Amino acid sequence: MKSVETNVIENLEIAKNFYRLRFFWDRTWGTPLAGNFCEIKVNNLSVPLLRRPFAFSDYNEKEKYAEIIYQKRGTATDVLSRKKSIESNVKPIENEDEDARFFISFEDDFSMEKIHILAPLGNSFYYTSDISSKQRVFAVAGGVGLGPILFAVKTSPFPALLVAGYRNETLVPKADIFQELKIKICTDDGSEGFKGTVVEYLRTSDINSNDLIVACGPLPMLKALHGFAVTRNIMCKVSMEEMMACGVGACMGCVVPCKNGKYRRVCKEGAIFDSREIVWG
Ligand SMILES: Cc1cc2nc3c(=O)[nH]c(=O)nc-3n(C[C@H](O)[C@H](O)[C@H](O)COP(=O)(O)OP(=O)(O)OC[C@H]3O[C@@H](n4cnc5c(N)ncnc54)[C@H](O)[C@@H]3O)c2cc1C
Ligand code: FES
Repeated sequence: MKSVETNVIENLEIAKNFYRLRFFWDRTWGTPLAGNFCEIKVNNLSVPLLRRPFAFSDYNEKEKYAEIIYQKRGTATDVLSRKKSIESNVKPIENEDEDARFFISFEDDFSMEKIHILAPLGNSFYYTSDISSKQRVFAVAGGVGLGPILFAVKTSPFPALLVAGYRNETLVPKADIFQELKIKICTDDGSEGFKGTVVEYLRTSDINSNDLIVACGPLPMLKALHGFAVTRNIMCKVSMEEMMACGVGACMGCVVPCKNGKYRRVCKEGAIFDSREIVWG
């Protein structure tokens, strides 16, 4: 885990109020994996005071960037949405190596081209031995859950299908973010792709107990997916979202109720859990 100040490379609106934020990432800071998240401080001011958690949506070691996909929701994400690319305001530092332009002194105030980031945090979707016998991945996303699921598809050890659910076509990202990925779009009103929820789509598919579901999205979606997975005896790994304060396991502010009366911290033991561990209520 590293605490670094880094520069924005791109901040692109990919759908209404949804943005892809790409920032410089040096490999010596760690290797973000699908399911890992970062804590971002958007400025040096007391508002917003706390860092905010966001899941990684990609990491490119060669091109030295990592990225998140975020929804403009409140104070921090509003500031984030106004961040500008470093490309528009590069001040090269003399006698430094090629990457020096990405590092700006910690004494500087935050500018609109910088973020402060603590990462990589949490666990990841694929690095447990219990998935070794799986054959395919059904990677299911809803709303702000798209980022980690895109990353999960790109880094899947098995052939993967991205199943992304939206209320209607206006919310479906129009940028090139799906690239060559195998994808099924579902909309509640049928205005694009399959008409119905992601779970309704899965019911029509050939998914079976040799497959793995990885998922991130609103709690009702995760709960419905868990119910579906249990009835079909399919392993389902979910990324849980809870409000966070410290983000590093110290405050117990982000716990989720688990089986056997235990509570587990999303920031430390998660954010990825086997859906059977969670008490869904
Ligand atoms: C592990 C983890 C990964 C996350 N990954 C992403 C991601 O990839 N993309 C993304 O857009 N968001 C993600 N989030 C949620 C993100 O942290 C919040 O959207 C962000 O903190 C909002 O900050 P804000 O200051 O803009 O909004 P605030 O002003 O703090 O809140 C605005 C509104 O959003 C609600 N809200 C804030 N945080 C959460 C939350 N964690 N869960 C549900 N509702 C919340 C508040 O209740 C309020 O109604 C993640 C959260 C966690 C815990
Ligand atoms: S946010 Fe403090 S323990 Fe998770």
